[in-house]
Amino acid sequence: MIDFDAIPRERLPALLQAMPKAELHIHIEGSLEPELIFALAQRNGVALPYPDVEALRAAYAFTDLQSFLDIYYAGASVLLKEEDFFDMAMAYFRRAAADNVVRAELFFDPQTHTDRGVPIGTVIGGLIRACDTARRELGVDGALILCFLRHLSEEAALATLEAALPYRDRFIGVGLDSSERGNPPEKFARVFARCSELGLHLVAHAGEEGPPAYIWSALDVLHVERIDHGVACLADPTLVARLAAERVPLTVCPLSNIKLCVYPAMDAHNLAALLDAGLCATVNSDDPAYFGGYINQNFLEAFAALPQLTARHAHRLAANSFEASFADSESKARWLRSLDKVFAEN
Ligand code: ADE
Ligand code: ZN
Repeated sequence: MIDFDAIPRERLPALLQAMPKAELHIHIEGSLEPELIFALAQRNGVALPYPDVEALRAAYAFTDLQSFLDIYYAGASVLLKEEDFFDMAMAYFRRAAADNVVRAELFFDPQTHTDRGVPIGTVIGGLIRACDTARRELGVDGALILCFLRHLSEEAALATLEAALPYRDRFIGVGLDSSERGNPPEKFARVFARCSELGLHLVAHAGEEGPPAYIWSALDVLHVERIDHGVACLADPTLVARLAAERVPLTVCPLSNIKLCVYPAMDAHNLAALLDAGLCATVNSDDPAYFGGYINQNFLEAFAALPQLTARHAHRLAANSFEASFADSESKARWLRSLDKVFAEN
């Protein structure tokens, strides 16, 4: 038995760092640091509209999701070769390993690349090679989730799925991302139905900037297993009761929500309220190169700003991340044991 009440608040930063965890909401293109953007631009002869790393970083002042997405898609323009996707993902896996991430389910946006003429096999080939290398060399269990861009049509999503089918065994699921408002989940009902038939796991961004109605339709029309973000749910008590009863995980991204002005500051974030409502909330980094930190920075800043969060919440968040992951049950049980060990020894 872990005596959570005996753990002093001062121990929390070390525990948050040391505890094993799964990251379930990371857009791999959002891990592209400015330094790597410039290195790849040089390697590939791509011209950038910024003179240097500092000027690019200075442009990372976002007012909402769309203002971020415009710069995020521009940053991805330096990715051309399989090696570029490999290098990007390996840089992420090294940061994740340093944060004691033992499992990472990586979102990738094939349309961002295929629309520029990069073959989908190049994208998936580089990313899957990084997953294999990370497992072997870093002990991080990586997996891929293919995301459809919701500002584009369902026909485009269906064509992307078709193009990805030769690589069906290289990704474990599909997601839905990009501009949320005005692009409700039900726009993608047919493509998600097809993915379900293919035995893919299903997730979708909903309730980041959009209303609780988008979370309802992600559940009832797309039949997703997890909601990405989902922080808007607290405005709808019936929805909260459903999410809690069905233990639908929410992949919450605190720093993202502050940088994209979903909340004015971290002390206004609803992470503690989500947990106290009995929801299976998790903490994730979303686009760490753009939002000021990787997963542990998200934990540290949320716990520093929200005094209601305790050692019990920290353990709950890590345990939730394993429960919510699509890993096999043996791995989940092993990670839970190592989580308990870290807490018992501290
Ligand atoms: N693509 C990358 N990050 C995203 C986010 N936070 N919301 C929607 N689409 C995204
Ligand atoms: Zn996201």
